[in-house]
Amino acid sequence: MTERLAVGVLISGSGSNLQALIDRMADGAVPARIAVVISNRADAYGLERARAAGIPTRVIDHREFSDRESFDQALVAALHEAGVALVCLAGFMRVLTPVFIRAFAGRLLNIHPALLPAFPGLHVQERAIAAGAKFSGATVHFVTEEVDAGPIVVQAVVPVLDGDDAATLAARILKQEHRIYPLAVTWFAQGRLRVAGQRVLLADGQETPEAVLIQPGG
Ligand code: GRF
Repeated sequence: MTERLAVGVLISGSGSNLQALIDRMADGAVPARIAVVISNRADAYGLERARAAGIPTRVIDHREFSDRESFDQALVAALHEAGVALVCLAGFMRVLTPVFIRAFAGRLLNIHPALLPAFPGLHVQERAIAAGAKFSGATVHFVTEEVDAGPIVVQAVVPVLDGDDAATLAARILKQEHRIYPLAVTWFAQGRLRVAGQRVLLADGQETPEAVLIQPGG
């Protein structure tokens, strides 16, 4: 049997997306394994989730570095040490420099709680509600040097309901995040993702019905 794809996951907080990846790997849906979970915060709850699953963890505190580049170099070194072939940002609240992004170009995914390219950046649920958007959602994308702007792998759409506040909308989006991040990692692990400019294609056209449903235009 071939070795399962080694994934590194970077977190700063709750780690519910990390948990979704752990669970889908454990039940065999995602053909990969998490080799290391790295947090920039020692109190990130996601570290407990990783420990409970027997996954090695590292805390690399950005405040101990004089600049962003040296912090990023430490992250790269830890990920290389763990032998990861794919890096998943999962609620990692630091902006990465080209030092990091170039080290993992084409092997670096992020999940964002909006339908990019609408609402990049922070406080996206408040902004979607304030803008009167009828739909929002979640996006898994490859990370490039421009924040929240890399090629889109998969998106899931949710309605913005009358009476929503940021918390209710975030919860609705988060449920979808937990579906699509494992899906994107599965496709990557299967070697099925091809990037053509800004567009990500599934190489073999063997989409599952689920993928067809939630890949707009797919
Ligand atoms: C998610 O909404 C994700 O899209 C964003 O940060 C949040 C992380 O949540 N990048 P969790 O730590 O995975 O629970």
